[in-house]
Amino acid sequence: MVHLATVNTPPDSGSDESDTTAELKKVQHQLSKVQLQLADEDDSFTTSVYGSRFANQDLPRNEMPEDEMPKDVAYRMIKDELSLDGNPMLNLASFVTTYMEEEAEKLMTESFAKNFIDYEEYPQSADIQNRCVSMIGKLFNAPVGAGVGAVGTSCVGSSEAIMLAVLAMKKRWKNARQAAGLPTDRPNIVMSSAVQVCWEKAARYFEVEEKLVYCAPDRYVIDPAETVALVDENTIGICAILGTTYTGEYEDVKAVNDLLVEKGMDVSIHVDAASGGFVAPFVVPGLEWDFRLKNVVSINVSGHKYGLVYPGVGWVVWRSAEFLPQELVFNINYLGADQASFTLNFSKGASQVIGQYYQLIRLGKKGYRAIMSNLTRTADYLTRSLEVLGFVIMSKRSGEGLPLVAFRLPDAAGGGEDGGRTYDEFALAHQLRVRGWVVPAYTMAPKTNDLKMLRVVVREDFSKARCDALIADIKLCMGLLEQMDHASVQRQQDFIHRHHLTSSKASHNHPKFRKEKHSIQGKHGKTHAIC
Ligand SMILES: Cc1ncc(COP(=O)(O)O)c(C=O)c1O
Repeated sequence: MVHLATVNTPPDSGSDESDTTAELKKVQHQLSKVQLQLADEDDSFTTSVYGSRFANQDLPRNEMPEDEMPKDVAYRMIKDELSLDGNPMLNLASFVTTYMEEEAEKLMTESFAKNFIDYEEYPQSADIQNRCVSMIGKLFNAPVGAGVGAVGTSCVGSSEAIMLAVLAMKKRWKNARQAAGLPTDRPNIVMSSAVQVCWEKAARYFEVEEKLVYCAPDRYVIDPAETVALVDENTIGICAILGTTYTGEYEDVKAVNDLLVEKGMDVSIHVDAASGGFVAPFVVPGLEWDFRLKNVVSINVSGHKYGLVYPGVGWVVWRSAEFLPQELVFNINYLGADQASFTLNFSKGASQVIGQYYQLIRLGKKGYRAIMSNLTRTADYLTRSLEVLGFVIMSKRSGEGLPLVAFRLPDAAGGGEDGGRTYDEFALAHQLRVRGWVVPAYTMAPKTNDLKMLRVVVREDFSKARCDALIADIKLCMGLLEQMDHASVQRQQDFIHRHHLTSSKASHNHPKFRKEKHSIQGKHGKTHAIC
């Protein structure tokens, strides 16, 4: 913005001002108070992004700017800012897909403008969703035939899928209790203390008491007998996880199911197969965890994890319509077409569903099997290499769990808290970060002796060559840490602990919401594994 320049009209000589001059001065004085906001012409003289004034200003943060900025400048400025994010390829913390083929990307980009909920306008996208539900239901061995039929829907991710499944279990339980004239005010759900945070949210948001089955120092999954023992008349269902976020281990769904059957207990099991749902059917097809088990009523899976689609898609499937209470489903008449809908959100993009369909038909079972087999081999190779480096392995191998490696530094070998070692898992994670790798360190679920651990998720784009590069860097970083003197490591460690372990102190966290005490993390101080 430029200000209007005052035109000075000093007298030519030192002579007295005439009335006219005095009048003019008065007008000038008043004019100088008026600030005109003229369009800024400066930028029209440069076509270079970094020559424009925007390159020399802060990007707007808190308030929407009044003015426009050229599109190429906006693109470049935001792209530059995002370059400070980590490289998704080196982010070994996340299960979420970081690679798709160009053809899939093209299809998805072409569908950006489609609102998935607009069934009338985009009937093909709706039909593609239904095809995906059918394929996924069959992959999970949903019963088929006359009078039966699984139902399901796409979601934004497993979290929304789990919310819907919890709502369905709660409503079904409530309907049955009301029909029997029994109280319905204290519903509970039985689940592992290693659940992903979305389960805690679902329980809290929908007012269902959490009954936790705690992990133990030598067991990172639920104990089936303990799980079934926690069930009472107010239990809406049991959650079993096919691949926990911490160690990737599969919970023994069959053992829980068989115990319920043996005891004649008609209690629903929901399987949280967020990650395992697209792994187990290909790597360990004989493992019974899905609708083959009588009490499994619903299953969720994240399309954006091992379903191999970019973030924003999950699925939930019910064994049959019987498990999805009618009153939760809305028939939406959108522009004349009736469509049954059970979602938390209304509008969403169609791209992710289309991306899922692409992967399902492009890869087929053979393609998924090939990819998941390679990931399992790579995870086994990484496991063996880390063992050679002296780490304790906490994850399963050879397809008995997800293709990931959870590991920790060995316990003290006699004397000293850590056998003379001066650094911990957080320091190693920090050092690897300097090399560009994101390998998260976190503390295990409660009641596991506050074990610290590291985890590498083996994703589709984590090839053997990349795995070798990681192993070399882990070796290098351990060497570096071992050479550092105790005081420096301690100072670095204190810094890391302050900034990594206590997210409640993060500056972006509103003071009102820091130090919450209602979550498993808030109560026990464990950190959530990144997913
Ligand atoms: C076992 C489990 N359940 C649920 C979720 C939540 O899934 P989403 O990120 O798809 O909402 C995750 C995420 O990692 C998970 O690992």
